[in-house]
Amino acid sequence: MDYLEEIRKRRTFAIISHPDAGKTTLTEKLLLFGGAIHVAGAVKSNKVKRGTASDFMEIERQRGISVATSVMGFDYQGLRINLLDTPGHKDFAEDTYRTLTAVDSVILVVDCVKGVEPQTERLMEVCRMRNTPVIVFINKMDREGRSPVELLDEIEEKLNIRVRPLSWPISMGRSFKGVYNLYDRSLYLFQPGENTLLGSDGLAIDDLSDCLLDERLGDYAARLRDDIDLVEGVYEPLEHKRYLEGEVAPVFFGSAINNFGVKELLDTFISIAPEPGARPADSRTILPHEDRFSGFVFKIHANLDPRHRDRLAFLRICSGKFERNKLYYHVRTGKNLRFRSPASFMAQEKLLIEEAYPGDVIGLYDTGNFKIGDTLTEGERILFHGIPSFSPEIFKEVVNMDPMKSKQLERGIEQLMDEGVAQLFLQNDGNRKIIGTVGELQFDVIQYRLLQEYGASCRFSPLDFFKACWISSEVKEKTDELRRRKSGRIAFDRDGHLVYFAESPWDLKRTMEDNSEISFHFSSEFKTGAAHLCAVPKIS
Ligand code: G4P
Repeated sequence: MDYLEEIRKRRTFAIISHPDAGKTTLTEKLLLFGGAIHVAGAVKSNKVKRGTASDFMEIERQRGISVATSVMGFDYQGLRINLLDTPGHKDFAEDTYRTLTAVDSVILVVDCVKGVEPQTERLMEVCRMRNTPVIVFINKMDREGRSPVELLDEIEEKLNIRVRPLSWPISMGRSFKGVYNLYDRSLYLFQPGENTLLGSDGLAIDDLSDCLLDERLGDYAARLRDDIDLVEGVYEPLEHKRYLEGEVAPVFFGSAINNFGVKELLDTFISIAPEPGARPADSRTILPHEDRFSGFVFKIHANLDPRHRDRLAFLRICSGKFERNKLYYHVRTGKNLRFRSPASFMAQEKLLIEEAYPGDVIGLYDTGNFKIGDTLTEGERILFHGIPSFSPEIFKEVVNMDPMKSKQLERGIEQLMDEGVAQLFLQNDGNRKIIGTVGELQFDVIQYRLLQEYGASCRFSPLDFFKACWISSEVKEKTDELRRRKSGRIAFDRDGHLVYFAESPWDLKRTMEDNSEISFHFSSEFKTGAAHLCAVPKIS
């Protein structure tokens, strides 16, 4: 097949939601439609139910056996769909943020009972930073939830995006009748308890005054007519361009568990979601159809079997064709690397591939060359933007509990940081190590893995910092002065960039005011010249 055609048929996306909104259920239904799985229950929830390290490790172990669940590829109506999995637990939100840099669009699941929840807001902030196109699926319409108008208003307000309903629910909860699809002008009737593999076809009703509507819906028909009048009056017609630019999110209503509204969602998704697009790099923008291959690593999956140290690096292809056994240039280290057994992920299976195209995510076996964010090319020295580290919120100092194993501890920490498990900051020429995370659970995971995989034992001593931010200045004396004045609160990150630990929002605000010639960055993207993408935290 023609190379351009290969690119045109790819759709790479992720499903995001607050835990419990229905991401796993929706994923499973989409895979059923795509023929990638054949029975319900085949997709393992990646939820950490009790929130403990061993719980997390158990999930990782299961996923280690079938890492294919990190990327789920399937063919649907002539398109190659790559669905990237994201962790459910909030403490692993960084992993999700990084995955979002590798997709071209997202489907956001919102629970109609709970509405927009905190994690939804943070995930959407990341999508908004990159103008990622979003389709919203309001789930659990079989339950008594909030009114559709209220939900849509809340999405617009809290997620800072305009919405355009493409389907409209007819009642909800026990009296849920179905949806009227405004995109294909059809009525889809809900049958409670129906959980089939087939999405039924809608009943075409172009003109809402059609008496077929009264026949099917009885008293609900009049209400639907009023609602649709309102919707058409309030919301502008969907402009495809505005969806692609991340300004307007089309909205669907349904019930994933009942397989209701899922096929319409998927059918609309394939007709409007973007194919692989241009990607900004430090020196220029890379277009998918360029001849020369390029891609970046956004995730590293450790092999949890201590006898095998190899890891699997997940690479998103941005341009050109990737070929097995060809030499590629690893920009950060200047090494040329060859991959003998690159893998793709189809129908939940890991398969050896000969070639792959922009939009694809491939797995590369790695013995320690890769770090999150690394770029591979055919020789050009470029770095892709978009694998930011965000300012962590919990800080602890590493205390070595077994001096005989210092080397193992050192190596273990280095490798876990390469995988992006947490962030490391160094003081006293590297003798004092501070780890920063967004969640407590990561410390348990780090401690557990250091012991299991490296035989190194440590504990963590909490530090009373509120935020870490990267600092830079045109005038070196200014940062030197701050380093002198606040030496205990200045550290270096692993790339040698200066970091300031603020003790409180107030301290941060004052330090920023007192040091107007110093820039404070809340995401590491300023390092690649993309400082405008920084997520500045609210200071109360
Ligand atoms: P997540 O991945 O976003 O965390 O959510 P998940 O799909 O695991 O769904 C969370 C819970 O919501 C599950 O119930 C699931 O069955 C239920 N659910 C998903 N879609 C719908 C829906 O359309 N309607 C209703 N009523 N429930 C829905 P659970 O009891 O937590 O788990 P399980 O025992 O059913 O697996």
